[in-house]
Amino acid sequence: MESISVDTAIFTTRSMRHLRPDPVPREDLEYIVEAATMAPSAGNYQMWTFVVVTDENTRQKIGAAYQESGNAYIRDTVLANPDTDEERMHVYGKAMYTVDHLAEAPAIVVACSTMPIPNDSGAASGLFGSVFPAIQNLMLAARGRGLGTVLLTLATDHTPLPPKENTPVRELLNLPEGIEVVALIPVGYPRGKWGRPRRDENLKVLHWNTWEG
Ligand SMILES: Cc1cc2nc3c(=O)[nH]c(=O)nc-3n(C[C@H](O)[C@H](O)[C@H](O)COP(=O)(O)O)c2cc1C
Repeated sequence: MESISVDTAIFTTRSMRHLRPDPVPREDLEYIVEAATMAPSAGNYQMWTFVVVTDENTRQKIGAAYQESGNAYIRDTVLANPDTDEERMHVYGKAMYTVDHLAEAPAIVVACSTMPIPNDSGAASGLFGSVFPAIQNLMLAARGRGLGTVLLTLATDHTPLPPKENTPVRELLNLPEGIEVVALIPVGYPRGKWGRPRRDENLKVLHWNTWEG
């Protein structure tokens, strides 16, 4: 496979929701998890662990749990709210595809923290702030191998609306106490095209020296 530059990976990795069901080679899944572990972490505690789910039956069950949370949050809360702005309608409208098709991804990486998420925001930021850079590494490494991904936090252990009718992901995977599900990342070959992510160009994100600068 032709290799791409770091810049190309960063500037063309967007949520790839439409994935082909073709299996992903095991070496590629191992490689993207290894890439994840190159991320920085608070105190270098490396408080992450990854369960890669390729088993069809487990993917279906994860898909059902995700669909329940996704319908409750995206469909019935965000999209049903008349005050939801146009951009969010667009974003969450697209997110509904994943709600209905997650199980079709040939692999779902379940990113976990190896420490319980504390209530105190300072400590929680250290923990989430360690797992999410690892996830971003994983997504960029996947992009480098021609694999699409999308970062999902619904139906995790910190979701606003956990599934009630379907089995929670942590139970499906037999996770021991203390290991917490932080994100689900479906991985597969894209049906869609790579492209620059849609970003608001009117937002002021760069300040020189002071806020006013
Ligand atoms: C912390 C975090 C949580 C997210 N959770 C979800 C989710 O549960 N479901 C979903 O469909 N997308 C989720 N997303 C994906 C965002 O919707 C997506 O990144 C955003 O719309 C920008 O689109 P892009 O990635 O294509 O640039 C999440 C992204 C982040 C960073």
